[in-house]
Amino acid sequence: MLLLPELLGKPHHILRHPDMPSEAFADLWATVKAGNKWHGYVKNLCKDGGHYWVYATVVPNIRRGEVVGYTSVRRKPSRSKIEEASKQYAALKGAN
Ligand SMILES: Cc1cc2nc3c(=O)[nH]c(=O)nc-3n(C[C@H](O)[C@H](O)[C@H](O)COP(=O)(O)O)c2cc1C
Repeated sequence: MLLLPELLGKPHHILRHPDMPSEAFADLWATVKAGNKWHGYVKNLCKDGGHYWVYATVVPNIRRGEVVGYTSVRRKPSRSKIEEASKQYAALKGAN
């Protein structure tokens, strides 16, 4: 588990797990940059090499019609959804 001071001000990709396909993040960024809400399953890396899954909802913060930042709210996904996402991501990784 990373401690909060180690994460503050750091880019999110320090949590990036090698099992995550680039397509998932390309979809995330295209969606939020267009001003829309994205949600999906993300496998994140722990400092000890382990991992944890989140169901993330990423919302663009819009001020005066412009995207000025992003907020991510995470929930614990169910075991069955984790299995489904694992299979989809493995298939995407295999296709590359
Ligand atoms: C609000 C927000 C939250 C994010 N949360 C995560 C996250 O928990 N884990 C992760 O690997 N990437 C997260 N990302 C995506 C990363 O910024 C990054 O695109 C991704 O890790 C892939 O790294 P790369 O773009 O350098 O290839 C988040 C992006 C945004 C806008």
